[in-house]
Amino acid sequence: MIVLGIETSCDETAAAVVKDGTSILATVVSSQIQVHQRYGGVVPELASRKHIEAIVPVVDEALTAARLPLDNIEAVAVTRGPGLVGALLIGFSFAKSLAYASGIPWVGVNHLEGHINSVFLEPDPPAFPFVALLVSGGHTSIYYVTDHTSAELMGQTRDDAAGEAFDKVAKMLGLGYPGGGIIDRLARKGDAANIRFPRSYLDKSTFDFSFSGVKTAVSRYIADHRQDLKERIPDITAGFQEAVLDVLSDKAVAAAVTKGCNRIALVGGVAANSRLREKLTADAGRRGIRVHIPSLHLCGDNAAMIAGVGYHYLKAGIRGSLQEDVYSRKR
Ligand code: KG4
Ligand code: ZN
Repeated sequence: MIVLGIETSCDETAAAVVKDGTSILATVVSSQIQVHQRYGGVVPELASRKHIEAIVPVVDEALTAARLPLDNIEAVAVTRGPGLVGALLIGFSFAKSLAYASGIPWVGVNHLEGHINSVFLEPDPPAFPFVALLVSGGHTSIYYVTDHTSAELMGQTRDDAAGEAFDKVAKMLGLGYPGGGIIDRLARKGDAANIRFPRSYLDKSTFDFSFSGVKTAVSRYIADHRQDLKERIPDITAGFQEAVLDVLSDKAVAAAVTKGCNRIALVGGVAANSRLREKLTADAGRRGIRVHIPSLHLCGDNAAMIAGVGYHYLKAGIRGSLQEDVYSRKR
């Protein structure tokens, strides 16, 4: 089954053509970063307007890259939530209309299930069940995944998402937006051992996270070292990153051990972090656990993961209805 995927939940307009939920025929991501950069974060109204401008060219580009006319598309999968409502509505309404006009089925899918399923777009995906560490700009959660469309939530952040903490710390240091990739690069030049920021494990038995403490600690450190802040930036980013990644890695490994499961999937925008990729692989490896991580272009928001998970709903006979609406919060 050839599925057209559409994703507009935040600041990326994306379309992809995926065969049988695994094989990417084309994937196009048009980022709005330049529009939002000067505001230091995503401006929802601007995001919606940019999606309106980009949706038709992006879908066209995906079909052209896949060398397939629209007639060959058998179904449409689109992100229904969670995300920015105005942004979601652009992709969702477009997908509904396209499917209706073409007389093909469509389905609305959960963005987070899309991220979890991104590992199936790679060769040698994990067998079920596995533990997924989902780390993005909006979410930080651990799931026990038993099927393409079933996941038990084991824990989640009680305040900021990990990516959000990266973005806020980068903003405090005047490094630009989005901060994750910038901190990743700068931290390589610093030494995490020089500044130890607090790790928040909460109650050791929980798989929940909290990143507000480390964020506050960084902001205090900045206030106390205004004079020579510039020289300290590499060490600050390294120290901050290590504090966040220690907790993420330890909890993901502990979740897999608790479930007696020897597979972890690392997914979401923060899964692009080079230190997290190497650290989780090493920490899990010491416990005999294998870590599956998608390629960089599948970590951030994309539509291939949406087509990938949508395929499984469509195969099970699940269809969207024209009355259906988007949702902003996690379900
Ligand atoms: O999954 P995603 O593209 O969008 C959401 O669904 O949120 O994730 C975006 C987040 C941003 O917070 C960004 O700073 C972070 O992923 N990110 C990174 C890296 N690349 C992107 N965080 C740490 N290290 C990176 N290399
Ligand atoms: Zn995402």
